[in-house]
Amino acid sequence: NKPITLPELLRMKKESEKIAMLTGYDASFAALEDRCGVDVILVGDSLGNVLQGKTSTLPVTMDHMVYHTECVGHMAQRAMCVTDMPFGSYHESKEQAMRNAVRLMAAGAEMVKLEGGEAMAETVHFLVERGVPVCAHIGLTPQSVHALGGYRVQGRGDAAAARMKADALLLEQAGASLMVMEMVPADLAAEITRMLHACPTIGIGAGKDCDGQVLVLHDMLGVYPGKKGRFVKNFMAEAKSIDGAVTAYVKAVKDGSFPAPEHCY
Ligand code: KIV
Ligand code: NA
Repeated sequence: NKPITLPELLRMKKESEKIAMLTGYDASFAALEDRCGVDVILVGDSLGNVLQGKTSTLPVTMDHMVYHTECVGHMAQRAMCVTDMPFGSYHESKEQAMRNAVRLMAAGAEMVKLEGGEAMAETVHFLVERGVPVCAHIGLTPQSVHALGGYRVQGRGDAAAARMKADALLLEQAGASLMVMEMVPADLAAEITRMLHACPTIGIGAGKDCDGQVLVLHDMLGVYPGKKGRFVKNFMAEAKSIDGAVTAYVKAVKDGSFPAPEHCY
């Protein structure tokens, strides 16, 4: 079981082999996800919601993300570890972004993820040029929930769709290695996925035609008590164990049966 690398992720896109990504925040689940075939473990700032019980990701700090990255970092033999840069940790300047990315990489991240389109392209380029692989995140960007007026589908209408396509191209040109698209109409996400050749797309509420899928662990295990998006499927409902649920998720992503139409916009 060779470790997942950037060339391997690109090969998977080229050969239409779906990428299974799942959030993970601690050592035991990192090991479980790894043995169940998850390709990319995301230490998401969704930990603000599912671990800390906050109503948004805004209060999550660098110290929180470093701690959970250390918990996950060296448990996976094969899966790649990607960590979210929290709100405020990369917005001031590209230098600030680099400084904080260095902390996450030192803690065990192999890639950092940050939210935003055109406004973040220069920062993405700066990090990539300095040896930090970057996962971009467009569409519904939860750190901007107040600016966006709530958790709602993004990219509806011609102007918004054109803007999202331009953002995706700029981020790919800046050197992003992965691109999460959240709550994006399936047709638009498919178009963006076809447009990008150097950057696999990972959907969450973005249809079945992305190069991969991501879910929040606590959502797909059905243990999060808060509100769930329509893109969530509880894989525990038909599983006998947590291993079984995660294995079923990986299989459903790989064979294209998840997401189904009812999970999409
Ligand atoms: O924080 C997170 O879990 C995420 C995924 C939902 C993409 O950003
Ligand atoms: Na996140």
